[in-house]
Amino acid sequence: MGKYILSLDQGTTSSRAIIFSHSGEIIAIAQKEFTQIYPQAGWVEHDPNEIWSTQLAVATEVIAKASLKAHDINAIGITNQRETTIVWDRNTGKPIYNAIVWQDRRTSEYCNEIKRQGNAKFIQEKTGLIIDSYFSATKVRWILQNVEGAKQKAQNGELTFGTVDSWLIWNLTGGKVHVTDVSNASRTMIYNIHSLSWDDELLQFFDIPKSMLPEVKSSSEVYGQTAGNILAAQLPIAGIAGDQQSALFGQMCTQLGMVKNTYGTGCFMLMNIGKTPKTSTNNLLTTIAWQINGEVNYALEGSIFIAGAIVQWLRDEIGLIQKSADIEQLAQQVTDTLGVYIVPAFAGLGAPYWNQEARGTITGITRGTNKSHIARAALESIAYQTMDVLNAMQADAGTPITELRVDGGVTANNLLMQFQANLLGCDVIRPQVSEVTAIGAAYLAGLATGFWKDIEEIKSQWQISKTFAAQSDVDNAERIKGWQKAIKAAIANSL
Ligand code: G3P
Repeated sequence: MGKYILSLDQGTTSSRAIIFSHSGEIIAIAQKEFTQIYPQAGWVEHDPNEIWSTQLAVATEVIAKASLKAHDINAIGITNQRETTIVWDRNTGKPIYNAIVWQDRRTSEYCNEIKRQGNAKFIQEKTGLIIDSYFSATKVRWILQNVEGAKQKAQNGELTFGTVDSWLIWNLTGGKVHVTDVSNASRTMIYNIHSLSWDDELLQFFDIPKSMLPEVKSSSEVYGQTAGNILAAQLPIAGIAGDQQSALFGQMCTQLGMVKNTYGTGCFMLMNIGKTPKTSTNNLLTTIAWQINGEVNYALEGSIFIAGAIVQWLRDEIGLIQKSADIEQLAQQVTDTLGVYIVPAFAGLGAPYWNQEARGTITGITRGTNKSHIARAALESIAYQTMDVLNAMQADAGTPITELRVDGGVTANNLLMQFQANLLGCDVIRPQVSEVTAIGAAYLAGLATGFWKDIEEIKSQWQISKTFAAQSDVDNAERIKGWQKAIKAAIANSL
């Protein structure tokens, strides 16, 4: 029996592969960025073949880097950017269009029409989701309507749909297995999170033939084996979870009420709400966290579309800094933004505002505003957006949240994490394990093959690296007022 788990983490900007040992130690990491395609304003696509080739390349590379052979791998876990939509030909295995990425806004007008027709409520009741072009259903519909001949082919049963996990597994198994897991299915807007099945009424509503859909499985079971020619061995694929749910698991937020926030391109805060789905009354999503041994765990989610991406924007588009890491030093040169706020609504606003037309806004600029104020306002925007989501979550939960487990790139920034704790008034906890998303999928895979006995065994691997306690002498009232005004301005700037 192999002594390691291989986790494939297919994210929005890069494909990564990480090997973990039984004690949860990282043995090796390989990563490859891939092309972002922007065909029109508001559109974002990926080449599915590049997703697959980079993912396979890093999987092969990481095994070599760790000086292992394929048979040293006990199982493979997969975690992925969610909602991103791929439609391919069942017979040739070739995609009929690029992957339409979760950030893509091409279907927002259609989503507005759904809202105007008063259909948002019944869709939320079934799926837990708020109407937005973020989710897969309207993207599949767009492909079927806009790619020549697609509709007919789909009706003939020649096309298949999948989120990125399905696409990877299809390719890893040489076209033998077409599955997804409940956590990814719950992001499509055609999956009923109560009955745990594809919803016929929604399929009809979005005009998507059922024959296209993958079989929905639990998050921890053996789905199939890699084809012998792929990684030079037939390895069991045994865990799947959308990346944010995987991070919730990797943070070991396995008890009711536990919350994590992952700071990546965007920010995604999830709270474990246990075994019964609960509809948010504060503009959050209800989603499936995972299913293990038949038992489903649900989560409330606040999705923020732009978080760390604001730093990349300042680096690549504005040229304010040379490397992302430079932002901390620049921001540290001032103790305050002097009333400057940045609302990075580049792709509209997600939770809790759900405004598809809001646009990025900077407020409060004066003659004295300098680079450092802008840098600091950019970092603070990540913390303010997180505060808005946490407030909504607290309102839904009906009890105060006392600790937030955090992970992702910008959590290395102590200045930001302290500011975050002060704004939230709760402990912000950074764990020792840095690859929380990848280890979540590794755990799911290892639980399925008996590599780890049970969740209790895994729990001891989660350790705190640093706790940021809220400083009681900081008064945030004025700055929060300023933020709220800036949000109003971003919404008033709607297209
Ligand atoms: O819902 C989108 C989310 O899954 C993307 O995550 O880390 O790839 O930006 P990430």
